[in-house]
Parts: sequence; structure tokens; C-alpha cells
Amino acid sequence: MLLGTQQVSAAGHLVIGGCDTVELAQQYGTPLYVMDEACIRENCRAYRRAFESRHPQTEICYAGKAFLTMALCRIVDQEGLGLDVASAGEFYTALQAGFPPGRVYLHGNFKSPMEMGMALDHGVGRIVVDSVEELELIDSLAQAKGTTANILLRVTPAVDPHTHKFIQTGKIDSKFGLGIDTGQALAGVRHALNCQSIKLCGLHCHVGSQLLDLEAFDLAAEMMPQFIKTVDQETGVTIEELNVGGGLGIRYLEEHQPPSVENLAETVLTKLKRGLSASGLPMPKIMLEPGRSIVGEAGTTLYTIGPIKDIPHVRKYVSVDGGLSDNPRPALYDARYSALIANRATEPPNEVVTVAGKHCETDNLIMDIALASPRPGDTLAVQSTGAYNYAMSSNYNRFTRPAVVLVNEGESEVIVRRETLEDLVAHDVLPERLRC
Ligand code: LLP
Repeated sequence: MLLGTQQVSAAGHLVIGGCDTVELAQQYGTPLYVMDEACIRENCRAYRRAFESRHPQTEICYAGKAFLTMALCRIVDQEGLGLDVASAGEFYTALQAGFPPGRVYLHGNFKSPMEMGMALDHGVGRIVVDSVEELELIDSLAQAKGTTANILLRVTPAVDPHTHKFIQTGKIDSKFGLGIDTGQALAGVRHALNCQSIKLCGLHCHVGSQLLDLEAFDLAAEMMPQFIKTVDQETGVTIEELNVGGGLGIRYLEEHQPPSVENLAETVLTKLKRGLSASGLPMPKIMLEPGRSIVGEAGTTLYTIGPIKDIPHVRKYVSVDGGLSDNPRPALYDARYSALIANRATEPPNEVVTVAGKHCETDNLIMDIALASPRPGDTLAVQSTGAYNYAMSSNYNRFTRPAVVLVNEGESEVIVRRETLEDLVAHDVLPERLRC
């Protein structure tokens, strides 16, 4: 499986964005996150094309939680997308990169007063409000600042998607949003309409992540017009903006076949239009917040293979120089990945092994994967690591976080430098009485 601009060179090396990955590993060291710029840009464009051609009043926002750095903010801005941020840290990154705050959406089920204040002071596009308590806090903050907060209210459409239980977010049993079925969503709308310094611009819903079929999107697109109709009938307010949450799942394995973005746009927009026009209601502005499907397949992690331990009749462990700290997803979500030997990419994968990390844990990165006779010193390329890998990385065991390199048309540039040992102790404070 070759993704994005991935190719194999005459020398049998994996090439991404025109750069030989074996040379990248030598130049920058491993582990190394490699991000394919052309693939990211094409994914942004595919979403815009699919939605805007069917409904010009669309805004595609990149969900920064998947992978956010200043360079990425610039790419997303240049591609004309909005940005969904989930914390002061993500918002600060965007501001530092010169991302226009008016195209930023602030999320979170527990925004701190500092985060809300920051959003209001910088004129964030929309605050996506998750609870009644938050409505009250934002209202009083906005009032004190003599401004109006433009908000979307997050509602829960009670959809049960086929994905890992930790990333199902639109179910009734969810910490996110206000339930439509329980009447809390309508109560939230009424509450927002009574707030002096809040402008309710619209609604937000999100059903889940890594969705490989359209069923949950389809159900949400059926539920939301019904709720918009209820809001119209009960309050006389016409909803002008509807954010339908995250995007499609991606290919981690060959058998993962997500629907196309065109299919997603056709399904969601047709369903919404049909439902709304049946009630004589206009189509609102539609927003979508894809994260994983913008950056996931564009990312590859390069590792160096170290000791190989063959336990007769049991398992062959192939160690790599990273693991849990640069990719916690196998441990957290039972996530599976594809990989290949980057320096012998044309050789057939003939041996089933388990790729193990180097942490003081059983941090198996990939169980039972066929690789081409892995040997110490080989470069292993693990694919589809662009989303929720660097973003979820840690310093566990005091490992330094890897560098991130952006590749495009044969050029490579560091967009996040590798952490140093000095970085690891930079925030430590040694009290005077403990000094030697
Ligand atoms: N919008 C909202 C409100 C979200 O909660 C999410 C993801 C997205 C957009 C982006 O969804 P995407 O297009 O990436 O599917 N750490 C987990 C994923 C958590 C996703 C949470 N919300 C993982 O590694 O799989």
C-alpha cells in the first residue's frame, strides 16, 4: 500500500514527497515523523471541492487536535480552511502562526476562564459551547468585556457509530454536548437565546472518529433537520449555521476502505437539504471539521530496527528505537498499522513478526505483521501516522520527542526540531536544599 506521494525508487527505497526516506533517516535521525505536504494540501482541496461544489455556503475547518504545528497552521490557512482548536495551547499555536482568529473555532467540554477570555479578546470566530454552565460563564465574561460572544451550541444526536468506544462522541451517553432526546439541547438553545451577550449562530454535532462507513453521518444528517425544525417551532429562531463535526476515517491497513469525500458530501448535503426543505426551512451554512483524514495518511514514522529476538515457536520481536511515546494509539485504541522496510521496499514481506517499542513496557507497535526479512540497521516505515501520533506523543521514560520533517518535491524541512536532553530537564526545578 503506497499512500499520498509515496513511491519506490530504482534503488528500492521508499520515497515520500520526492525524498528518499533512507536518506531522511540518516540526515535527521530516527524516530522521525515525515509529513507529505502535497498529500495534506490535496486532502484540504478535496474536502473544499466536494462540499463547496454542492453547497457554496460551506466552511471546511481543519481539526487541529490531529496534528498542530505552526507550519501546519500556515498550510491550512493558505488552503483557505478554518481551524478547530481544543485548548489555549492549540489556539496560541495558531495565533503565533498568524492564523486569522476569525476563522478559528474554540472547542472543549471544560474551557477555562482563561481560554474563554483569550477567545473573546482575540475575536475568535465561534466558541462551540458544550454546557449550560459554560453559557453562563461566557455570557458574564462577554458582558464584562463589553462584547458579544458568537457561539455554536454542541448537541448530541444520539448516534452510535461503528468505531472504537473511546472515539464515539455523539452517543447519548457522552460527556460532550447536550442531548436532543433528553430535552437538554432545546433547553440549552432557550438559555442561549436569553443570554444578553451571546449570539447563538448555530448548532454543532459530532458523531465519532475513524468512521469507515457513512451510516453515522447519514443518521446525524437525518436527526439534525428534525431538531432544527423543533428549534424553529419552539423558539421562532432559524438556525443559520450547522457544524457536522469531524471527517472520514483513513487507511491504516489495506482492508480499510473509507468512502470518498465526494460520497460523504453527497450523502450529508442531500440528506440535510431534503430534511430541511420538507419543513420549509433554508439550508444553513455547513461546517465540517476533518482532522485525521487531512493529515493521517500524509504522515509516516521512520524507525531504526535494533535487536531481533526470536522465541522459537512463539514470536519474533523486532525492536525499533521508538514506541509508546511517539505512538500511543496501539496501546490506547488497539490501533493497527501497516509498515514496510524502507531500504528494501520492493522485497516481498515474507516473515511475520511483532514490532516492539523500546519502552519499559510491553509496547508492541504492530502485532503480527509481514515484513521483508527485517534486520538490525534497517529503516522501518510505519504508515498513516500523521494524525494523533505527534499530537499524542509524550516523554515517557524521558524519551525525547522526535523531529517532524515536511517533505515536498524533493525538499525536506524541519517543522518541529527533535527534543534534546536539555529540553527534558528545562522545566525541572531543583530546590536549593536538594542541591549537591
Ligand atoms: N470535531 C470534534 C468536535 C471532534 O471531537 C473531533 C475528534 C474532530 C472534529 C476530528 O475528528 P476526525 O476528523 O479526526 O475524525 N485520539 C483519537 C481520536 C480522538 C478524536 C476526538 N475528536 C485517536 O487517536 O484515534
